[in-house]
Amino acid sequence: MLQVLTTVKEMRAYVDRVRGEGKRIGLVPTMGALHAGHLTLMRQAKQVCDVVIASIFVNPTQFGPQEDYEQYPRVPENDRAKAATAGVDVIFQPEAGEIYPAGYATYVEVGGITEKLCGLSRPGHFRGVATVVCKLFHIVRPDRAFFGQKDAQQTLVIRRMARDLHMDVAVDVLPIVREEDGLALSSRNVYLSPQERTAARVLYRSLGTAEAAVREGERNVTKLLGLIQSELARESLARIEYAEIYGYPELNPIQELQDKALVALAVWFGSTRLIDNTILEVA
Ligand code: PAJ
Repeated sequence: MLQVLTTVKEMRAYVDRVRGEGKRIGLVPTMGALHAGHLTLMRQAKQVCDVVIASIFVNPTQFGPQEDYEQYPRVPENDRAKAATAGVDVIFQPEAGEIYPAGYATYVEVGGITEKLCGLSRPGHFRGVATVVCKLFHIVRPDRAFFGQKDAQQTLVIRRMARDLHMDVAVDVLPIVREEDGLALSSRNVYLSPQERTAARVLYRSLGTAEAAVREGERNVTKLLGLIQSELARESLARIEYAEIYGYPELNPIQELQDKALVALAVWFGSTRLIDNTILEVA
């Protein structure tokens, strides 16, 4: 039976009990409006852990002042039904004041890799993400935590934080789950008008253009970016925020592909900002 806990105290009591029984705990942090991408993380957690805890918390500190914190979809009943089908044992769904009570003043800042891509275009975003994930790790003390490659830079930030702060948790990253036409699942896709939804297919198409060019031998980053940008430019509803390629996983600047590189896109369709990415690999 799926339980929903809302306080840190209840969550700790639950975790203490199941730890005492020697159970391995998996944590899947989410902001809710669950879709098949989230459910894949939950099912995988259930495969390798005895108890799966999913958090549903629209984290105010990772949203900028002009961003969609208020509009972000909140569908708790739907989420509960979906989480139950994915084998989740406990949903942790605190109110904002439970996590950030009055006078709250402590934040986690990861340097280096946060100084580009979404870290530049969303100032303070990764500070909010690192802070809330650090808090969740402390509250739940999971053996393993599960994240999606959809948010490639976020996974790097969390791994860096876990390593740098000696957090005793294994961070598992699972592949991007996509719609049949290639659009990466996202809770924000519900914001798209039908025309924007069609236009958004250009994200996956442009990543595919780069992958195909690499298969045909292209190694030059400027040329690959040119191909991606011209594919994106063919879609009049798409407004590019960034389209970049970095060495992976260090996110170091590169001119020529070597080993692995991350292609990362952030593109606006009307008032909706979508991100997508792929890893290019050369032998
Ligand atoms: P949210 O956007 O709800 O995503 C929760 C987790 O689901 C993240 O690890 C994300 O990468 C993963 N995910 C989302 N869409 C996916 C897809 N199409 N395929 C695979 N995985 C996908 O990311 C956050 O919430 C927050 O920043 C959070 C980590 C919970 C901190 O507040």
